[in-house]
Amino acid sequence: MRTQVGIIGAGPAGLLLSHLLHLRGISSVVLEKRGRDYVERRVRAGVLEQGTVDTLVEAGVGERLRREGLPHHGIELRYGGAGHRIPFEKLVPGRSITVYGQQEVVKDLIAARLAAGGDVRFEIEDVAVHGLESEPYVTFGGERLDCEVIAGCDGFHGVSRPSIPEGVLSVFEREYPFAWLGILAKVAPSSEELIYTRTERGFALHSMRSPTVSRFYLQVPADARVEDWPDERIWAELRARLESVPGFTLGTGEITEKGVTPMRAFVAEPMQYGRLYLAGDAAHIVPPTGAKGLNLAVADVRVLTEALAAYFGHGSAELLDGYSEACLRRVWRAQHFSWWMTTLLHTFEDDDPYGRRLQMSYLEYVTSSEAAATTLAENYVGLP
Ligand code: FAD
Ligand code: DHB
Repeated sequence: MRTQVGIIGAGPAGLLLSHLLHLRGISSVVLEKRGRDYVERRVRAGVLEQGTVDTLVEAGVGERLRREGLPHHGIELRYGGAGHRIPFEKLVPGRSITVYGQQEVVKDLIAARLAAGGDVRFEIEDVAVHGLESEPYVTFGGERLDCEVIAGCDGFHGVSRPSIPEGVLSVFEREYPFAWLGILAKVAPSSEELIYTRTERGFALHSMRSPTVSRFYLQVPADARVEDWPDERIWAELRARLESVPGFTLGTGEITEKGVTPMRAFVAEPMQYGRLYLAGDAAHIVPPTGAKGLNLAVADVRVLTEALAAYFGHGSAELLDGYSEACLRRVWRAQHFSWWMTTLLHTFEDDDPYGRRLQMSYLEYVTSSEAAATTLAENYVGLP
């Protein structure tokens, strides 16, 4: 079996790459370890930057996103007993974000690939990549897929990155001493905009998926387990953290999904080796506070598509050679922003009273200085 681009992983990165390559007349095969149902139900990100929305709409997979996505023109930072709005329309005119579940993006992309006769294979076990220096091929379940290029879109725990010989990659990483407990609930959002809250009990985030479904996150200890968090405990803690301003009442409802996400930052450089190109979480992870992971995956794929189009279209390898460098500027900006948002809004066990005062002072600055608020807004909506 032969294709031009062998893609490992049917997350947002792998599926979008396959779709964009198809639009350029380049063939690909997507190999995914999990079942279709599993990847379509996996609840994760929800905030799409303008650039991500534009990419999906231009690629013809934005019809439902446009219909069902929730445009947002600001967010609230809540701390010290008051809410403070960061108004995107004033600070970064014409730029905004859209709330639309990652699994909806995945569903739309799978539907588009299958409608176009695309080769997306689920429940593929024992994927391994070979011949990265010159003649790349992928093996899986006794089969062999020859290709000209391999795209490693298999997320943080995938096989692509570990296949790069030792000593090639420089790795930069940080683990945070806490995790996020995320839930979905059948209840109308209690606020029109996302609320990022800092309290002495820890961070909480009020997000949403639709007019009838809300999404929440709680800062929890790094070793927290879903079993430790029965529904009543979750609602009590969300109330304690979010009902920290007068007059705000949190609506509650049936919890339909619960998960714990570790908080970690990671970058592997360069994002390529021989004929293997890494995109999305396979190359880098950010803590979710800045809502950047999915958007970075889409940005990588945009760069990789242009590079592959130049390569297959007229034999030019220049863009492919510069792929990693072209992506890493955005990656590091997102790393810094995500670290900054995380540090600003979470409580750290080893923080002394001095550290807490610094944090409050910074929050006050960000919500009172237009320059500081613009920094937040500009990064949140994403680089053009
Ligand atoms: P993935 O989505 O991880 O996809 C990788 C795919 O490869 C998976 O389907 C996996 O099953 C498959 N795979 C793995 N190993 C193999 C193998 N050996 N063989 C074949 N297939 C394999 N980002 C944002 O931008 N905004 C947000 O608001 C946001 N919130 C988040 C909230 C949470 C709770 C979490 C967990 C993440 C959040 N993120 C957010 C991050 C975002 O979800 C990820 O960055 C995004 O999923 C990256 O996409 P990807 O395609 O690179 O990787
Ligand atoms: C969501 C996730 C995030 O990481 C974030 O910063 C904002 C919103 C969400 O899932 O809705």
